[in-house]
Amino acid sequence: MQDASHKLVIVARKLLPAGLVPLGARFEVREGGLDITREQLIEMLPGAAALVADASVPVDGEVLDAAGGTLMIVANIAVGYDNIDLDACREREIVVTNTPNVLTQATAELALALTLAAARRMSDAERDLRAGAWEGWDPGAYLGPELAGATVGIVGMGRIGRRYGRLVSALGARVVYAGPSVKLDAERQIEARKLELADLYTEADVVSVHAPASPDTHHMIGAAELEAIGPNGVLVNTSRGSLVDASALAAALRDGKLGAAGLDVYEHEPEVPPELLEAPRCVLLPHIGSATSAARDAMALLVADNVAAVLEGREPRTPVT
Ligand code: GLV
Repeated sequence: MQDASHKLVIVARKLLPAGLVPLGARFEVREGGLDITREQLIEMLPGAAALVADASVPVDGEVLDAAGGTLMIVANIAVGYDNIDLDACREREIVVTNTPNVLTQATAELALALTLAAARRMSDAERDLRAGAWEGWDPGAYLGPELAGATVGIVGMGRIGRRYGRLVSALGARVVYAGPSVKLDAERQIEARKLELADLYTEADVVSVHAPASPDTHHMIGAAELEAIGPNGVLVNTSRGSLVDASALAAALRDGKLGAAGLDVYEHEPEVPPELLEAPRCVLLPHIGSATSAARDAMALLVADNVAAVLEGREPRTPVT
């Protein structure tokens, strides 16, 4: 049995000091860095007791086996864990943890920011201004909807979806939602109404996606759904890129079938489909949903707590498996 200080923690890419410092005080920690390749990660892993990953690091059987049987935990610096092969972890009795709760407010706020930015065409307006193409106040330019009085449809009413619902409700929006279960708290607190997905797309003026990536949700929003959201409707995605068919989205924006879109996530990050870069009425952010100092520090600390717990024989705070 390795003594605790000799247990090896591999951080695949980068962990903020809020997590790195406490881990470094107890274990040997090695960081791969933001540019690490899969091959380099595999070379770092032999003998590792913990692997700290993030949403951009695929963790499958080959990666797990590279540790050589010593691996006890994969700690993801993310609430989503679609990058991790959970069955492969279960087969090898490796614990998986994520970072829920601590990023709920940050991500809900970013979804609200994207909603407003897309609805009010902020990217187009700022781009024109920076290009020197602003020719003065125009009563007909950059028009968009107000949130007050709008119907906002939330797809996936989990922690982040519900927090976003409270934010838009405070601005006077009506909230409808779709998802596998009834959310009585949201129905009581903000009078949210549960709808079938198809009805949500037709009723909502804004659709914000907060569901996890899975084979069931892959491209769940395509041409037909975008057309149902409509030429004045706004689509916001801060969950995972794979939920939205990006080509269909770019076409809907180009052809005027969708009003506007705000995206923080893409199917093959960090690639952004060129047709989206060229699409009008579209705000594009580089996966910064949880990027507040408070959330990112809390995520790093939670990762460190989870790793230390498992390596020291205790229950992790936020297990997935
Ligand atoms: C980030 O993408 C997360 O899942 O927390």
